[in-house]
Amino acid sequence: MKFTKTLSAAALLSLFATSALAYDADWKRGRVYYRSVCTSCHAVQPGGTINPSTKTKAEWATYLKADKHAKGKDTVKQYVSKAYRASIKSGNKAAEKFADTPDQELMDDIAAFLTKGAKDGDAPATCN
Ligand code: HEC
Repeated sequence: MKFTKTLSAAALLSLFATSALAYDADWKRGRVYYRSVCTSCHAVQPGGTINPSTKTKAEWATYLKADKHAKGKDTVKQYVSKAYRASIKSGNKAAEKFADTPDQELMDDIAAFLTKGAKDGDAPATCN
């Protein structure tokens, strides 16, 4: 069991690592971004907020790898991109604060938060 967990976390990390120099993901920054940017939109959708604890670590890994957001209408990556942050930063503090963070680092941070906050993660989390 322990082995499986370690393996899936490693698989998730490797998915988001672009270079040989492993970036040490900052789950706290991922949490701030998820809660401020992702959740602020979900909260006004018919389905409402999406708690990290609604999926297992493996489900999040599969979801992020597929990168099909809103039932495939768009991608998760687009909402993490600098271009998206720039488009909302006048009304969103997190987008403004992380305006210059490389896309991949922010994606890794979000993945780390979702892994930690997953149903079977170290600290199952809600969105707020
Ligand atoms: C501008 C609005 C908006 C933003 C920003 C946004 N989402 Fe979504 N998200 C949606 C909509 C719309 C749905 C589809 C809801 C439905 O079909 O019930 C959705 C659905 C989801 C789902 C449920 C599965 C799916 O894809 O249908 C997940 C998980 C998700 N979003 C993750 C994220 C993450 C992670 C971010 C931030 C990086 C994010 N979203 C940012 C609008 C947004």
